[in-house]
Amino acid sequence: MSAVSYIEENKDRFLNELLELLKIPSVSADKKFAGDVRKAAEYLKSQFEKLDTHVEICETAGYPIVYAEHIKDPNLPTVLVYGHYDVQPADPYELWDSPPFEPVIKNEKIYARGSADDKGQMYMHVKAYEALIKTDSLPCNVKFMIEGEEEVGSENLEVFVKGNREKLAADVILISDTAMISNETPSINVGLKGLSYLEVEVVGPNRDLHSGVYGGAVANPINILCQMIASLQDEKGRITIPGFYDKVEELSDEYRAKMAEAPFDLEAFKKDLDIDDVKGEEGYTTIERTGIRPTLDVNGIWGGYIGEGAKTVLPSKANAKISMRLVPDQTSDEITKLFEEHFKSIAPKSVKVKVTPHHGGEPAVTPTDSIGYKAAVKAMEKSWGVEPIPTREGGSIPIVALFKEELGLDSILMGFGLNEDAIHSPNESYGLFNYYRGIETISHFYQFFTDMSKS
Ligand code: BES
Ligand code: MN
Ligand code: MN
Repeated sequence: MSAVSYIEENKDRFLNELLELLKIPSVSADKKFAGDVRKAAEYLKSQFEKLDTHVEICETAGYPIVYAEHIKDPNLPTVLVYGHYDVQPADPYELWDSPPFEPVIKNEKIYARGSADDKGQMYMHVKAYEALIKTDSLPCNVKFMIEGEEEVGSENLEVFVKGNREKLAADVILISDTAMISNETPSINVGLKGLSYLEVEVVGPNRDLHSGVYGGAVANPINILCQMIASLQDEKGRITIPGFYDKVEELSDEYRAKMAEAPFDLEAFKKDLDIDDVKGEEGYTTIERTGIRPTLDVNGIWGGYIGEGAKTVLPSKANAKISMRLVPDQTSDEITKLFEEHFKSIAPKSVKVKVTPHHGGEPAVTPTDSIGYKAAVKAMEKSWGVEPIPTREGGSIPIVALFKEELGLDSILMGFGLNEDAIHSPNESYGLFNYYRGIETISHFYQFFTDMSKS
């Protein structure tokens, strides 16, 4: 039997196994779910054991890494699969149409936290592997490294990779944790953004004050914080931090023209988000703004009175969480430092400012002339009937740059999600079509990669 027939014959079980995994609330950001995060790792281990595959739970200072391998012949090429079994918090729960950890199938989609990011996409790899093993058609060696801390910065994976170079030796890394343009226009991600994430605190008077008695005479930290944040971008949508753009790679007109050939429907984009207009850096298209230009966003802001009714108060403090998405050749540490210096320099004397950096990550660009990339193109072409387009996205997978640095390996980002999957949002979903078509495509990848590596 062919792997494709095997997938077709076992599709209901393949789906049910994913649904079981989606029921485990493996939220890495919230300690309350610590037991469940481990349960998800154990579940994966048990699935590899069912396939008689060597599997280990590798402990780290945080959540474990599930490592599995099938070495057929050391002389054959080796594919290292990376994915993550942890998910983002599901809050706010009241915005979900059905509970986030009770998956339901509706409109040919699986609705659950993690269905697209990344349990659904990661589990496709386990099932593609099963189909190849069971039909005796796995042409090369495979290693799996599935972590539980991607959504919180992959710090312990970094330690694991540095300490296990030999164990992780491979010819290519294969990842499904990104999106495609659409089901009609498949694409392969060739660019991820880096990340610099900080928390800021603006402190004014030593206590909350009466806003009438003191208002207008003492700096209001919320007013000041808003002014400071507003000044970080100018009227052209450019970030005003001195030196911010110094290392930004300027892409050629040819490259930008090529990018513009990819189909993009601005009207549909606006309609999907219920917005009347888009907004961003002047002189760049929406696709360029998300794909190749660095950005700055406030992720959260708080302070003062937010309870019911009105309380007249001039608060003592205001806080915000701010992220910057970076492009080649910006580095996270450098941008974090530039932000910190600038933010402190624009603070008036009437307040004190504290800046606390969080996790960061470097941008990553995948070359399109490698065997791995070409094999991914062939695999997608075979299952879709059209050639996939290379695209860059605004999301970050910081470990990809580290893989390159520590293991010397390129990552092939063959993701099968869609923007409409609403990852990190309420009502996250993943198409059944994408799940099954993805499993098939992954199974093709191994054959093309092995054949092309030989020649
Ligand atoms: N899978 C996403 C990254 C992604 C999404 C890349 C869509 C391309 C397209 C990943 O799980 C993620 O959410 N990463 C975080 C970074 C991390 C350090 C918290 C992100 O991009 O915010
Ligand atoms: Mn992900
Ligand atoms: Mn994510």
